[in-house]
Amino acid sequence: MSLTNKVAIITGAARGIGFAIAKRFLHDGARVVIADVDDEAGEAAVEELKGLGEVIYVSCNVAEKLDVRNLVAETLNAFGDIDILVNNAGIAVGSDFLTLEEADFDRVLQVNLKGAFLASQAVARHMVEKVQAGGTPGAIVNMSSVNAVLAIPSQIPYCVSKGGMSQLTKATSLALAPYGIRVNAIGPGSIMTDMLASVNSDKAARNRILSRTPLSRVGEPSEIASVAAFLASDDASYITGQTIFVDGGRLPLNYTVAVPDAD
Ligand SMILES: NC(=O)c1ccc[n+]([C@@H]2O[C@H](COP(=O)([O-])OP(=O)(O)OC[C@H]3O[C@@H](n4cnc5c(N)ncnc54)[C@H](O)[C@@H]3O)[C@@H](O)[C@H]2O)c1
Repeated sequence: MSLTNKVAIITGAARGIGFAIAKRFLHDGARVVIADVDDEAGEAAVEELKGLGEVIYVSCNVAEKLDVRNLVAETLNAFGDIDILVNNAGIAVGSDFLTLEEADFDRVLQVNLKGAFLASQAVARHMVEKVQAGGTPGAIVNMSSVNAVLAIPSQIPYCVSKGGMSQLTKATSLALAPYGIRVNAIGPGSIMTDMLASVNSDKAARNRILSRTPLSRVGEPSEIASVAAFLASDDASYITGQTIFVDGGRLPLNYTVAVPDAD
């Protein structure tokens, strides 16, 4: 198994894509820390996954430095090491640009971008110390989005945060390259999680998404988890500073494609 004995922190892993990554990492032999703000869902996730391997829940708001410090301390306390960090926690707040509240702009940037910075820095400090003591370098995987390079006018803070994630990935990959620590990102297209829940009930929204998705379907969280497992593993040993887009063909597409069963 490609992640045997690795210790992985996954933020925002109580549900959705993060949960799928936790499940995949456990399957691949890792010991997993689920970090989230939703304690009930986080504990339930551990209950559901504990049959697959060693997994714990740590309550952590990634936008709070003290929470992030505590996350690192709790992980080291439980497993004695950190090899992998997945910065997956993210939120979206939709609003028209002209009425967008400053507080909503700040909140999205604090969770999606500053949270990834805080966790990367705290975990990288441990990873660098380990390398300097003769240990193996770790890997960081950031959850970006196609909205790092495309844009939605009603999701300005989200798009800005994911554009920032692309540069955070590049800049931190360069800062950590001298230690052999790799930093990459995944840019999902439309993936079936709570974040996309409205699509289940709104046919117009579904048709809009599929008209921009050449593979003619919404993606599954497990299809992001498999790429996270690859980027975190030694199979990706010469890849750093990249964002891999997992989007059913959206980014290469100019204009639209026909939607099966559009009405
Ligand atoms: N679903 C998609 O279509 C899609 C597409 C592109 C990118 N993404 C990105 O993937 C990541 C996961 O998305 P998802 O669809 O699984 O979302 P989700 O809403 O289903 O799950 C997000 C999880 O993050 C947690 N979280 C929120 N704020 C947090 C905080 N401050 N600290 C710690 N945890 C926090 C939530 O409690 C939740 O468990 C996000 O970064 C999102 O931007 C999702």
